[in-house]
Amino acid sequence: MAHKKTILSGIQPSGSPTLGNYVGALRNWSLLQQEDYECFYCVVNLHAITVKQDPEALRRRTMDTVALLLACGINPSTSTLFVQSHVTEHAELTWVLNCYTYMGELNRMTQFKDKSVKHADNINAGLYTYPVLMASDILLYQSHLVPVGADQKQHLEIARDIAIRFNNAHGDAFVIPDGYIPKAGGRVMSLQDPSQKMSKSDPNPNGYIAIMDDPADILKKFKRAVTDSEGSIHFDPQAKPGVSNLLAIYSVFANMTVPEAEAHFAGKGYGHLKTETAEAVIADLAPLQQTYNKLLAEEGYLREVIAKGAAQARARAAQTLADVYHKVGLDV
Ligand code: TYM
Repeated sequence: MAHKKTILSGIQPSGSPTLGNYVGALRNWSLLQQEDYECFYCVVNLHAITVKQDPEALRRRTMDTVALLLACGINPSTSTLFVQSHVTEHAELTWVLNCYTYMGELNRMTQFKDKSVKHADNINAGLYTYPVLMASDILLYQSHLVPVGADQKQHLEIARDIAIRFNNAHGDAFVIPDGYIPKAGGRVMSLQDPSQKMSKSDPNPNGYIAIMDDPADILKKFKRAVTDSEGSIHFDPQAKPGVSNLLAIYSVFANMTVPEAEAHFAGKGYGHLKTETAEAVIADLAPLQQTYNKLLAEEGYLREVIAKGAAQARARAAQTLADVYHKVGLDV
């Protein structure tokens, strides 16, 4: 029987997720479920410990992230929602693939370079081999499509390279995955410094919208967004990064193309752009926030979802790992 195509993606349970996470990834995770795919969505807590974590906070945020994914519309009866550490095959495949990854490749990873600067007191080997764990997440499920934001492109490329290298050495073990990066919203920029990616680790909270921000904060942050002095609303990320970022966000939430959004704002001022963008975001996030708050009180249900998810994920992951062990000669 032909399998449906497989989707896999993951999110770290660190900090409070932002509009960037939502627009670049989570929203699409939910939308893609309606198509002809089998979806695996994963809270990547093994990745999170590449920077220092408080154990109790990590446990809590992992469960909060499960609630968030459900609130974003992940349907646990059709998609597999699980926690990475529950499926030990991720760590096991990582070891094997570490032996098929060159240090030269890992040295080129911009996220490693950025994080090494930010966490200069903890440049650990896990931070360095982070992309190999991510490749294992993807390859274990024979994933065809990986919905992520543009910042993960380099990690996807190395996952493909590792898969191709392994397949060439041992015969086909892995599907070669493609990225799914949205055209508008693949890289949501900071509202205060639109040359930087919107990030939850931004020390200035006005730079990012947290998915759980209340409506008054969301409106306030959009009103303070940095634009330019030209006064005309059109999309030009180089010359007008602030305005282009707002237009891209608006177009996603208003269900328009960017040119349609430009036409919508023709002749209007930046005040309109900011307020209408805020209103569109607030309207979309309100039901999500409500569901999230309700789910937080339902820990028993959340635990049921991830227990079932882990069992389903393990069934698929174990097949791939067994094949890899056989191909490498580890199955004596
Ligand atoms: P993480 O946890 O940093 O972010 C989760 C997702 O959100 C996207 N994203 C953004 N998209 C657009 N604009 C932004 N400003 C923005 N900020 C974050 C990220 O691209 C990501 O898709 N390494 C991954 C997690 C991971 C993973 C995987 C992803 C681990 N294993 C396997 C896919 C497949 C990460 O740290 O994402």
